[in-house]
Amino acid sequence: MSSDCAVTGCRLSFWYPKKGWEDTVFMLRVIQVGIGGMGNTWLKTVLASKEVAFAGFVEINPAIAAQQARQYGLDQSLIFDSLDQALTAVRPGGVIDVTPPRFHKEVSLRALDAGIPVLSEKPLSDNMADAQAIVQKANETGILHMVTQNYRYSVPAQTLKRLLQSGEMGRVGSVTVEFFKGPHFGGFRDEMAYPLIIDMSIHHWDMMRFFLESEPVVIYGQSWNPPWSWYRGDASASVTLELASGARVAYNASWCSSGHETSWNGTWRFECENGIILFENDQVYVQHKTAEHESRGGFWQYRNDEMALVEPVQLEYTAQGYLLHEFYEAVTLGKPAATTCQDNIKSLGIVFDIIQSFKTGSPVRRSV
Ligand SMILES: NC(=O)c1ccc[n+]([C@@H]2O[C@H](COP(=O)([O-])OP(=O)(O)OC[C@H]3O[C@@H](n4cnc5c(N)ncnc54)[C@H](O)[C@@H]3O)[C@@H](O)[C@H]2O)c1
Repeated sequence: MSSDCAVTGCRLSFWYPKKGWEDTVFMLRVIQVGIGGMGNTWLKTVLASKEVAFAGFVEINPAIAAQQARQYGLDQSLIFDSLDQALTAVRPGGVIDVTPPRFHKEVSLRALDAGIPVLSEKPLSDNMADAQAIVQKANETGILHMVTQNYRYSVPAQTLKRLLQSGEMGRVGSVTVEFFKGPHFGGFRDEMAYPLIIDMSIHHWDMMRFFLESEPVVIYGQSWNPPWSWYRGDASASVTLELASGARVAYNASWCSSGHETSWNGTWRFECENGIILFENDQVYVQHKTAEHESRGGFWQYRNDEMALVEPVQLEYTAQGYLLHEFYEAVTLGKPAATTCQDNIKSLGIVFDIIQSFKTGSPVRRSV
């Protein structure tokens, strides 16, 4: 069955299971572009979905195509060499783009021009001009384009968000973020300029915007490459940001760390009016400042409660599963999605303003 989607104006292909009409769940059929690397996560996510199924695949590396067809039992006749070829053979209701960042513009524009909604891996692009071209095309066509900022949708990130939203901790004065990992990926990250800031820290800037609901007005940073780095571009950075809310964020990170790694989320310490919040090892802790005073070595200060683990929220969907469900509901029901390209270009804009500060050695002042 196929129909025109009232929201996106796109002709959607649906496939429905054999149950009675009243129990029918319409399946959105998608093409996944790029099925190696991170494509594995998306193959598993879609194959496990009750709402989204595959119409086809695009993979430019024949060895990866053959290997993935074997591993996941994919129909090899539905794995195409290019999105053009795939779109002449099948008509999907969505495209999931899991190619390296430099291909995101080409894939997104091709799909949007064909009236097909896109769920694109982050970063929106590896340069601002391409990212702007994607947003412009999405605006012109009115077709949905979402970016997969999955770090927003983990249990600890949502637990932290709920605590901040409750107002219990009062105003946030400052946030310190540390991120240290040493992954040897090989591939595009080893060659790109500023791999840490563009390909990894985009998650942290997007989380910062999500947690604090405020945009940076001043950005200053320095980047460098440690002598042992296996990346061509700078893999370490230190960045400070002043947000419109007045909060300050200090960020220290490296993608060629020598040990004692943080989690992928990083370690976040929020200094709040009523105490502190610590997001560490994918758990959220809180310590309240009480109204009582105590004397310590000739001065007084507020007494603190014990640091306590915040009870995690329960979520039906997390990470990629959440985003796929949100994409499905946005395409089929017209529900608003959070991480559209129109929102996400604000997270990516932080990345490129940081890089401008790296290059000029000066702070970047922004109007928001
Ligand atoms: N959200 C996350 O947590 C997360 C994690 C890892 C990677 N990613 C993102 O996923 C994207 C892909 O990263 P990766 O690590 O899988 O890269 P990768 O190089 O390991 O894999 C990319 C795959 O796409 C294929 N490919 C490349 N160009 C193509 C094209 N034009 N058409 C079709 N297939 C093409 C490659 O052959 C390969 O199979 C990047 O944007 C990356 O930032 C996101």
